[in-house]
Amino acid sequence: MHHFSYKNGELYAEDVPLSQIAQEVGTPVYVYSQATLERHFKAFDQAFEGLEHLVCFAVKANSSQAVVATMAHLGAGADIVSGGELYRSMAAGVPAERIVYSGVGKSEAEMAAALDAGILMFNVESAQELAVLDQVAGRLGKKAPVSLRVNPDVDAQTHPKITTGLSKNKFGLDIELAFKQYQDAAKLPNVELKGVSCHIGSQLTKVEPFADALERVGVLIGRLRGAGIELELLDLGGGLGISYDQEEPPSPAQYAAALKEQAGRLGLKLVLEPGRVIVGNAGIMLCQVLFTKDTPAKHFIIVDAGMNDLVRPAMYDSFQAIWPVTEDPERPQVVSDVVGPICETGDFLARDRQLPDMGRGELMAVMSAGAYGFSMASTYNSRPRVAEVMVSGDRWSVVRRRETTEELMRGESLPEWMD
Ligand code: LLP
Repeated sequence: MHHFSYKNGELYAEDVPLSQIAQEVGTPVYVYSQATLERHFKAFDQAFEGLEHLVCFAVKANSSQAVVATMAHLGAGADIVSGGELYRSMAAGVPAERIVYSGVGKSEAEMAAALDAGILMFNVESAQELAVLDQVAGRLGKKAPVSLRVNPDVDAQTHPKITTGLSKNKFGLDIELAFKQYQDAAKLPNVELKGVSCHIGSQLTKVEPFADALERVGVLIGRLRGAGIELELLDLGGGLGISYDQEEPPSPAQYAAALKEQAGRLGLKLVLEPGRVIVGNAGIMLCQVLFTKDTPAKHFIIVDAGMNDLVRPAMYDSFQAIWPVTEDPERPQVVSDVVGPICETGDFLARDRQLPDMGRGELMAVMSAGAYGFSMASTYNSRPRVAEVMVSGDRWSVVRRRETTEELMRGESLPEWMD
């Protein structure tokens, strides 16, 4: 459910016509619905009612201050993967004690910043990382709160590029070896063992892989208990999918129902790291048709947004629905390729898609662009990053202004011998 809908043939974000935003801010522009964000967060959080839990929004999905601050106001924590995300989360008002730090490659400076901030826990992904974290904490006179991220070797049945819980993936510690690693970790002077974590992939459309992973992690928790290692936190990561096209992912309530009983029996506080399911359908990317052209093979709609603004179709061949901002049921449909201005064949937003015959100057909304949209944007082809707008009811605000071309060269200089 989201709050982008047609009223009298015009596409609105909540109570704001998208054409008004395009007119005042220009295109391309990302538009987020705050009501959708709130609704999604609450549905997810309430699904786990009755079980002690903390929902840590995966900031990588959308790290805009306005989005993260919306989450923080609702009581969310943050799942971060870099010093930059730590900084952004705290600036947006997420308390450090609600921040979990995942990722295979944390630098010593990043570890130190997170220790100084006093985060809830580090999800550690290798023996070397653990040893280095122990040293960094020792230098700072602190104890690092740690959970080992285990790789449960379950198939998430999603796109190979976003599967993380198979033993051949780079993530986590092999679950068979984890028992020994916990015993080793317990001996480290500057580490406090807090929990266990896993994350098996993203855009999952079935509950079974989550339940399988939980079962395997549960066995490990039992063994650890038997060996006198008591943990407080069980972090099940993120990964719940959304509907981009025809997918029918489980609802947060179904997802929670599949996990609650088993998780409850383990008696640990649950941590969850959803990203896409909260923000994916809460955002769209609004763009404009520059030109159309017909070749013997194709009808191309060339728009002003490219793979640098929204990379998902180019990178994962992913489907993003496209809605014209002006709806006209009478209009003929044409099989079209929607492509951007970037000089790469892979620069497309849709391929062989049945779409209304749109012409120059028309506005279109690329749907489900709230997650991994702006946060993966680049300035490739020296294209400034686009603006972001947040809507709430009939109010709207530019929450990130369009980057300028001057800003593209910020920090650059010529070598002194060329002056
Ligand atoms: N926790 C960890 C440790 C993760 O690695 C991820 C996502 C999440 C939580 C959040 O997963 P979500 O609930 O959003 O599925 N760029 C790709 C997705 C990459 C996901 C990476 N990790 C895409 O656009 O599909």
